[in-house]
Amino acid sequence: MKVINTISELRAELSLHRADGKTIGLVPTMGALHNGHLSLVHRCVAGNDITVVSIFVNPTQFNDKNDLANYPRNLSADCALLEQADVDIVFAPEVSEMYPEPDNRVFDFHPLDSVMEGPFRPGHFNGVAQIVSKLFYAVEPDAAYFGEKDFQQLAIIRNMVQQLNLKINIVGCPIVREPDGLAMSSRNMLLTAEERERALIISRTLFDSLRFAADNTLDDTKSYVEDKINAVNGFRLEYFSIVNGYTLQPVSNWDDADYIVGCIALFCGNIRLIDNIKYKEVE
Ligand code: PAJ
Repeated sequence: MKVINTISELRAELSLHRADGKTIGLVPTMGALHNGHLSLVHRCVAGNDITVVSIFVNPTQFNDKNDLANYPRNLSADCALLEQADVDIVFAPEVSEMYPEPDNRVFDFHPLDSVMEGPFRPGHFNGVAQIVSKLFYAVEPDAAYFGEKDFQQLAIIRNMVQQLNLKINIVGCPIVREPDGLAMSSRNMLLTAEERERALIISRTLFDSLRFAADNTLDDTKSYVEDKINAVNGFRLEYFSIVNGYTLQPVSNWDDADYIVGCIALFCGNIRLIDNIKYKEVE
């Protein structure tokens, strides 16, 4: 496994593989890797000749300076995990490498970015699009892997690929959870023991709401989740939205779409967590 820090070295290495007719897969990450990330890596290794994993804590997508400062970083442990997973190349650039000049590009993903995370994290998806597009230009992968944990991000990346006319197969991968149900996240390690215990209520409530939804209206299901979460001391709900899984726009009846997802964001103490659940899915 090669650890590469510059785009020029990355391009030189990849052009050799491309000349051999090899396919290239990319898994973009911000490091502090866990089994959620590794599930993407395994899919990528299985589906491509060469797997590139990028590790870069992207400053332009953090709308909260503290969140950026506190974001966990652990490159050597990450590299050990990736080596075991048969990754070919880790791309771990410095900020100055990815942003030699300020990136002034403004993307417009309306209405995908006008809902849910959008209003609560102004500029976040623009920053994600800036870095992911730069990674796509640097790697030129055949396929790139993203988790459904960040459901809105996945929809926005698909849209960006269309807008930029890129020929990259975007592969969405299911949420990986801790044994007790909590969606894996690099931020989970920032929770105190007490908060970690409490955080379990999030996935439990979502799964309970799946059963509730079977014989209740969409509005009642939304209230069911909101009420349960609001009743927990130490939680601050930002939103729970039940949306069309393609357009991300809110739906008001179970018959309104064939793909319906409930997405939640909340603060557990000072740590912001997100999760989602599929109420209806196309086979
Ligand atoms: P990061 O939070 O490190 O996540 C990297 C990828 O892992 C994302 O596609 C995310 O959806 C996926 N992932 C995280 N937790 C997961 C879980 N529990 N199950 C399945 N997949 C999971 O998302 C980002 O980084 C950044 O925004 C990035 C795309 C790298 C751009 O900077």
